[in-house]
Amino acid sequence: MITGGAGFIGSNMVERLYDGNRLTVVDNLSNVDSRYIGKYINSNGFRFINADIVSMPEMNDLDDVDVVIHLAANSDVRNGSNGPEVDFRNNVVGTFNLLEYMRKNDVKELLFASSSTVYGEASKLPTPEDYGPYMPISSYGASKMAGEGFITAYSHYYGIKATIFRFANIVGKNSTHGVIFDFIKKLQKNQHELEILGDGTQKKSYMHVTDCVSSMIYVHERMGRTEIVNLGNREMTSVTTIAQKVVEKMGLQGVKFRYTGGRDGRGWAGDVKVAQLDVTKLFGTGWKNSLNSDQAVEKAVEETLQQMGWTN
Ligand SMILES: NC(=O)c1ccc[n+]([C@@H]2O[C@H](COP(=O)([O-])OP(=O)(O)OC[C@H]3O[C@@H](n4cnc5c(N)ncnc54)[C@H](O)[C@@H]3O)[C@@H](O)[C@H]2O)c1
Repeated sequence: MITGGAGFIGSNMVERLYDGNRLTVVDNLSNVDSRYIGKYINSNGFRFINADIVSMPEMNDLDDVDVVIHLAANSDVRNGSNGPEVDFRNNVVGTFNLLEYMRKNDVKELLFASSSTVYGEASKLPTPEDYGPYMPISSYGASKMAGEGFITAYSHYYGIKATIFRFANIVGKNSTHGVIFDFIKKLQKNQHELEILGDGTQKKSYMHVTDCVSSMIYVHERMGRTEIVNLGNREMTSVTTIAQKVVEKMGLQGVKFRYTGGRDGRGWAGDVKVAQLDVTKLFGTGWKNSLNSDQAVEKAVEETLQQMGWTN
């Protein structure tokens, strides 16, 4: 079962797992419609359930699930300060309900999409999995931290093997949010000036979505018990570098960058300016990435431009 399977990472996960597995996608289509999984709906071995994991009476009857990949969440990190209850509802209550479903139906394996935001503004970079104390600075980060806590507790109580993945920034095909998507949308409207949230020096590690889904499966299969694993690349890419790459790939010239500045140059309240995960544990499993951070950004820009119908 893939919760959030209609979304960006979820639809890539469906594509990766479709051959050879029976899949159930649970998604309330709140962030995206069903366009990325449309071709699988009504096909053999694929079940789509349009349901909210927060209430989800529809799910209680699903007694044939072995593994849950839990991706459903409010993924809009930026709006937390305008209404933190959205993160609480979808990410904390939703995760709790899913765990209750697993407990009642004796489902023993879970892969969970957590986030680097649980660390907050870590004083140690790159940040390893055992860094502490966690002090998230966004309600999104706080909600992921709460989700992790319930998962480890349920794992202990009920013998669930869970792999908790703390993602860096994931980019690529089927994305409907994030910095690359935003820049392209803005530049489609105005090709003379690009508004950049913050001061452009924010630096984060980017991972391509195909590497994200392949590493999740690879790592989970090799873990004998519940573990936390950072997912990302070793390098970082700055926001201004991404803006330059988008402008170059769109074939535009003379675009003026207008930085919004913000508090300490952050993109939004709760934005962690520099996020670099220590990925020693991930690469120590033997998994190999196909793209580093800059390459992931470049490929994602090309894919997003194509999906947004941009030709120059
Ligand atoms: N994209 C990233 O860079 C990134 C980074 C860190 C963590 N994550 C996490 O990875 C997961 C997938 O993110 P994404 O980028 O694909 O986001 P996304 O918004 O594209 O996908 C999330 C999906 O969950 C669904 N959903 C949301 N609330 C739901 C609910 N209450 N019930 C049922 N379905 C619901 C949405 O309709 C959407 O299809 C999320 O948990 C997100 O927090 C993503």
